[in-house]
Amino acid sequence: ASIRKATRDMAAGKFTPIHVPRAHDEITNLIVSFNHMGEALKQKQDELLQSKKMASIGTFSSGIAHEINNPLNNISLSADTLLEEFDSMDEEEIKEILGDIMTQTERASKIVRNLLDFSRARATEMEPLHIDEVLQKTTKLIANELRIHKVALETKIADGLPVVHGDFQKLQQVFLNLIINAKQAIGEYGRIFIEARLTDNDTIRVDLSDTGPGIDQEHLEQIFDPFFTTKEAGKGTGLGLSIVYGIVKKHGGYIEVASKVGEGTTFSVYLPVYHGNESKEQTEA
Ligand SMILES: Nc1ncnc2c1ncn2[C@@H]1O[C@H](COP(=O)(O)OP(=O)(O)OP(=O)(O)O)[C@@H](O)[C@H]1O
Ligand SMILES: [Mg+2]
Repeated sequence: ASIRKATRDMAAGKFTPIHVPRAHDEITNLIVSFNHMGEALKQKQDELLQSKKMASIGTFSSGIAHEINNPLNNISLSADTLLEEFDSMDEEEIKEILGDIMTQTERASKIVRNLLDFSRARATEMEPLHIDEVLQKTTKLIANELRIHKVALETKIADGLPVVHGDFQKLQQVFLNLIINAKQAIGEYGRIFIEARLTDNDTIRVDLSDTGPGIDQEHLEQIFDPFFTTKEAGKGTGLGLSIVYGIVKKHGGYIEVASKVGEGTTFSVYLPVYHGNESKEQTEA
């Protein structure tokens, strides 16, 4: 029975050696080699995990380097042009180049801002939250922008939803990023629909659908990767959804995406219901 348990554990990736009986028979030999095999596998698995981590840190930092280097190069080129040709330039040309420098500076600082969010510069402050309040305050922030671009926003929030345990600002950032993505995908004239409800397994599900162009099948797997963007240079950093992913995960939830090219996209955020069993519960909710 212990062998059966050990093989099952090993298949699941956790290994505990089997106790070796005293008798020197074939079974004992088998158990000893099994334990050896387990050790070797465990070591390989640790190595694999470590190299995977290193690989993602590698991709990540080369991404950062690339992303920040681009605007820096552009700034440097523009400044160089100004230095070299200042005397022969008219005011308009000079203004144009200075404008370019400003745009590129803003781009670099947006990347840095996003990265700070990404590395959790601010400690997460968890409290019981009503998701309808989070959604209402978030949609208010962007309502005007949506109106200007003729994007209709509809919300349908189930009554009496239980609270979740969350950080208000971070969750606001999640929904804001998703709404901005939806708006950018739509461009002009379209509809964003937000629906919140309780699911069967004690989770609040927030769906955010848009009537945008949808996401190509080949891109779907990459959209949560840091720096993955289909937006033109200078428009998107590609960090939005990876930040969203990280925040939702930190809240014990998960996020799914469903998309059909030509029809639209739905992001579903799942957050566990909070039952207030933590000792330092807050009074306001
Ligand atoms: N609602 C959507 N409809 C269609 N495509 C989307 C949608 N949301 C995200 N995407 C795709 O996923 C990519 C990654 O999104 P993400 O928010 O991570 O970065 P970004 O929007 O390109 O840049 P940033 O968020 O920094 O402005 C986008 O470039 C876009 O191609
Ligand atoms: Mg985005």
